[in-house]
Amino acid sequence: MREFLIKNGYHFFSQTDTEVIPNLIHYYYTKETLEDNKFLRAVQAAVHDLKGSYAIEVISSLCPDKMVVVRKDSPLVIGKGSNENFIASDIPAILSYTKDFYLLDDYEYAVITKEQVQFFDSTLKEHQKSTKNIEWDATAAEKNGYADYMLKEIHEQPTAILETIGSRLKLEEKTHFEDLTITSAYLQTLSKICIVACGTAMHAGLVGKDAIEKLCQIPVEVNIASEFRYCNPIIGEKTLCIYISQSGETADTLAALKLAKEKGAKTLAISNVVGSSITREADYTIYTHAGPEIAVASTKAYTSQVILLNILAIYFAELLGSYDSAKLEELKADILSLPSKIENVLHEKTQIEEIAKKIYTEHDMYFIGRGTDYHVAMEGSLKLKEISYIHSEAYAAGELKHGTIALIENGITVVGVLTNPVLTPKTISNLQEVVSRGAKTLIVTNQNLRNTNFDFTISIPKVNNLVSPILSVIPLQLLAYYISKNKGLDVDKPRNLAKSVTVE
Ligand code: M6R
Repeated sequence: MREFLIKNGYHFFSQTDTEVIPNLIHYYYTKETLEDNKFLRAVQAAVHDLKGSYAIEVISSLCPDKMVVVRKDSPLVIGKGSNENFIASDIPAILSYTKDFYLLDDYEYAVITKEQVQFFDSTLKEHQKSTKNIEWDATAAEKNGYADYMLKEIHEQPTAILETIGSRLKLEEKTHFEDLTITSAYLQTLSKICIVACGTAMHAGLVGKDAIEKLCQIPVEVNIASEFRYCNPIIGEKTLCIYISQSGETADTLAALKLAKEKGAKTLAISNVVGSSITREADYTIYTHAGPEIAVASTKAYTSQVILLNILAIYFAELLGSYDSAKLEELKADILSLPSKIENVLHEKTQIEEIAKKIYTEHDMYFIGRGTDYHVAMEGSLKLKEISYIHSEAYAAGELKHGTIALIENGITVVGVLTNPVLTPKTISNLQEVVSRGAKTLIVTNQNLRNTNFDFTISIPKVNNLVSPILSVIPLQLLAYYISKNKGLDVDKPRNLAKSVTVE
């Protein structure tokens, strides 16, 4: 396209492919003979030539009072104001101006002026569209006295989880989800469930797998979306694919969802953003209702996803009658106790702040655990590396001696997560091996550990192992936060990262 435009007299000033777009629009604009909707028709002609994903806003001195927007697989929202309209890639960006949003479909065009928004399909046939009211409070997207969004969002976890639970889960009542029409007959046809997501959302999926397999006896695979979309997965009518995405706009997750639909699998989206792309593509959607998450490092979205997956597992188990109902009631009681238990963990933050002061200069850290604790270790390690830039890995504790232990020496900190009484003695013995090689050890546990020689121990309340990640992850989130602060880094906007990864 560049070559074509250069041959036609256009000059380029950068290497970005974006620069092609205005030139291409100008090219078609000058070719248009009809005056009616000339600007829009030129944009449409240019868009017709584009491949890939994009969200485009076109403004021109030739049509100074209007803009044309169009999207394909990338987020774009239009905010409706009074005698003013807005566009943004994300709802929180314009939440202080309006709560009424138009959600644009792929290849749908909007022509926006101060007074109105007109919509056109890909053939430029005009149609009407109604707004969606977003209930988020504008102050929810502000720091409200906290030094950083991440710290605020860590502290919002008790209320975020209450919102996620909502009226879905109550003691001695059947769990229910509004708008989720999955039946027991359908669940009985399933040969497996695939959970697909990226990063932290994928880590939440790993915890969800434990819950669904234990309560429903349905095999669950957890897949990284960028792998799933290219591995020709064995899925079809007998597979339910669950997609987890805070933003609902992650390009790989969205593409993996479209693939499952093509292969005949039913799709269920778990998202925090109402009307986001994955929710519009999926057969079923359930929302985490955690409120806007602004910090790049995901915290409250993770805990809300873990809770929602547990509630979903209980819902499926009740439909299938696959788990002892008295034990389900105990699990429900544990889930309902979590908000106050999270408050208790948050009260211990000074201890974690002090530990962070002692270890923030380190270069390598390892996180270990077994079972669900291993999945939390993965999340703790990701949190640390993304905001503190300290190299960190998570290992299933039993894997250490198959190679990684060669890296353990003086000056390395190993973080152990121990919440499962059956697996705790095993992980303790792995930790003793690193202690004897000179590593410092930091333990997050709900067990009474006697006669151990660990350097730091953070105690958390006891709770059912399926939801223990909700409590054990919080010290790890705070540890990453305080280490990053000690290093003087920008906690909310770590280098090289974006909140929504809308490209492959
Ligand atoms: O919006 P999503 O949940 O789809 O985002 C997925 C990942 O990009 C995200 O969880 C990422 O790993 C976080 N920055 C981690 O804190």
